[in-house]
Amino acid sequence: MTTTSAPTTAITHIAQLVTNDPSLGEGPLGLIQDAAVVIDGDRIAWVGPSSKAPATDNAVDAAGRAGLPGFVDSHSHLVFAGDRTEEFNARMSGRPYSAGGIRTTVAATRAAADDALHANVARYLAEGLRQGTTTQEIKSGYGLTVEDEARAVRIAAAHTDEVTFLGAHIVSPDYADDPAGYVELVTGPMLDACAPHARWVDVFCERGAFDGDQARAILTAGQAKGLVPRVHANQLGHGPGVQLAVELGAASADHCTHLTYADIDALAQSDTVATLLPGAEFSTRAKWPDARPLLDAGATVALSTDCNPGSSFTSSMPFCIALAVRDMGMTPDEAVWAATAGGARALRREDVGRIAPGARADLLLLDAPSHVHLAYRPGVPLVTDVWHKGVRL
Ligand code: NIG
Ligand code: FE
Repeated sequence: MTTTSAPTTAITHIAQLVTNDPSLGEGPLGLIQDAAVVIDGDRIAWVGPSSKAPATDNAVDAAGRAGLPGFVDSHSHLVFAGDRTEEFNARMSGRPYSAGGIRTTVAATRAAADDALHANVARYLAEGLRQGTTTQEIKSGYGLTVEDEARAVRIAAAHTDEVTFLGAHIVSPDYADDPAGYVELVTGPMLDACAPHARWVDVFCERGAFDGDQARAILTAGQAKGLVPRVHANQLGHGPGVQLAVELGAASADHCTHLTYADIDALAQSDTVATLLPGAEFSTRAKWPDARPLLDAGATVALSTDCNPGSSFTSSMPFCIALAVRDMGMTPDEAVWAATAGGARALRREDVGRIAPGARADLLLLDAPSHVHLAYRPGVPLVTDVWHKGVRL
């Protein structure tokens, strides 16, 4: 172990540790029984059995609790104001979800002060962190003017490195009669203003939002500015989103609820991660995505919250894990992998989503003997301890 001036900490007697590194332990999750992890500054320095843990400055006895990497939530829409309780109530009385509700949040967000938006982002990030989310992607998409989208990506960038420009969330109400004009705005001045603050470009490619040609124009314009595509694809029905994501080398196709065999094949043959968002189906009472054919075909699957006030107002990755296991054909091991290593793949990150020497020190302990309890004990706040960048919360 390299010596530095930062005090080292050993967390010992972790009943069962998910490392997500098969070279460190058993099976695809790289499980180690009675494990220890040594943290040096903001990095993991050592991982192995407790009996072999090196001497450190500090020690924490995990006393039989399970450990796993911090969750990587690769899809959220946290820059918003207001909520949509009435719309949710109406849906639970039988009204179907439509993307039109986004306009309600656009109006509230445009009217909000910067401070209020910052405070909202901080509030939901803190909420997620308490439940174990240590990496959070955040999208714009409730501004839909050059100024409001630029404000949204700047606000997101103050809270995370994983910022996505989603000016193409819906056609702005200001351009209701001129969707082509809106696409020109998004691919021109809006992209110019937002690209310097973002890493990713996203489009809601769906009937009622943007068609395949519009989505292609927006994503390729983003690529020309150095952004990497990700796509809201096949959420509400079949469409070109997944194939377009794969064709353009997108990091992820998100939602993937309505897939053809050709879509599944395309994902399985590609590096594009299929990101499933069970909070959206829960909260819109829609058909569940089926993870099984994707996993069986060899596609990489991630789980994320899609946290937003319209279709999925949850910041809880454990909730998403439980839904994915109950209703989407995933085993507990697959769901925990998807919520950690899968999210890291969707963000093309090597430093998070695993517990191995050199990785960022993002680590959770559970009041349970194994990670399986995240699905087995749904709704129970099992995350007792969170280390984020080496700092214990
Ligand atoms: O991912 N699909 C588009 N965007 C969000 C919904 C946003 C909203 O309803 O406000 C989603 O589900
Ligand atoms: Fe979304």
